[in-house]
Amino acid sequence: MEAQSLLNNKPERAPLQNDLLLRAARGEDVERPPVWLMRQAGRILPEYRAVRAKMGGFKDLVESPVHASEVTIQPVDILGVDAAIIFSDILVIPEAMGLPYELVEKVGPRFPEVVRTVQDLKRLRTNVDPEVHLSYVLDAIRQTKRDLAGRVPLIGFCGAPWTIFCYMVEGKGSKDWALPRRLLWEQPAFAHSLLDSITEASIAYLQAQVKAGADLVQIFDSWAGVLSDGLYAEFMMPRLQRMCDALSPLVPVTVFAKGGAHLLPQLADLSCHTLGLDWQTDPRKARQLVGEEKTLQGNLDPSILYASPEVIRKKTQEMLSNFGTRRHIANLGHGVYPDVNPEHVKVFVETVQKSA
Ligand code: CP3
Repeated sequence: MEAQSLLNNKPERAPLQNDLLLRAARGEDVERPPVWLMRQAGRILPEYRAVRAKMGGFKDLVESPVHASEVTIQPVDILGVDAAIIFSDILVIPEAMGLPYELVEKVGPRFPEVVRTVQDLKRLRTNVDPEVHLSYVLDAIRQTKRDLAGRVPLIGFCGAPWTIFCYMVEGKGSKDWALPRRLLWEQPAFAHSLLDSITEASIAYLQAQVKAGADLVQIFDSWAGVLSDGLYAEFMMPRLQRMCDALSPLVPVTVFAKGGAHLLPQLADLSCHTLGLDWQTDPRKARQLVGEEKTLQGNLDPSILYASPEVIRKKTQEMLSNFGTRRHIANLGHGVYPDVNPEHVKVFVETVQKSA
């Protein structure tokens, strides 16, 4: 759908009581940086584990709008974060395209079927209709917007084409993603075609999330770090640019390329509002590379949340001063680890919120 027609058809919504995240993303003045955590909706909270235990498994939770909405709002109630992120997974896109995923306890995602040749692509659905194939996510977003009643913004998300390509080719996690990288060289026609299909499905999906109520969208490129500058420029940047161009007229867009410090000079040219930084990236150097026109998000080392409250406070304050007060959204440099003490997460959140 054209961005302009979506813009004109945006439903009326309750005004946000706390819109710090959106103002920081757009570069407007804020009293203090907003704070949320990647993977905040999940296993760190006993309240999440209780809901999860009632359900058959992870996918049952993802596919139940009432329960997905409940665990989406838990971190807002319990941790006091300035945004909610819809409880789902990036792997719903391969599934909507015809490759179902499984989540094996203590092992991770598994795909019983994979695609590795041009022939294999014929098995994939090319016209993903989010209202049909991903209706459970959109219902969860609508439910969450109702239940949040404007308290904080709701973040929608999807995986970047490269990260989704990795899972669809490899069928499971990998350290170096050697096979998907090999296919970029050995079968570029296959790679371009699959990456295009993922891109189109993801744009439709994010636009549908916005229409359902997402106030900001984040694109997770979790495996960007295994690609060189050249491959990223050739295979990924045009697709990310298409995604940003399609979404940024509607809502603020964040691109988080994990391991992507070397990619920042290219990422700086995207039409997104915010770039996420992992914890290996120096915020001051990132600011120099990116310039003043974008917001930066991040980037406390998630392992610091195992330290004492005093150390967490000190490290969080250091991080805040490294970013400066303008155009910063406070977060970790990657997802929160599942066995971190929620009280320590609160120390991180409160330190940012008292920084005004
Ligand atoms: O709170 C939130 O951030 C929203 C929910 C969310 C999940 N996955 C829930 C989840 C989000 C944004 C994701 C994104 C996601 N999923 C990424 C990108 C972000 C990143 O971490 O780099 C990736 C690579 C995935 C794929 C995925 N899903 C993996 C590798 C795993 C297994 C590893 C793990 O953490 O157990 C999942 C499962 C998953 N997704 C869980 C959750 C809460 C754990 C399931 C459970 O045991 O309840």
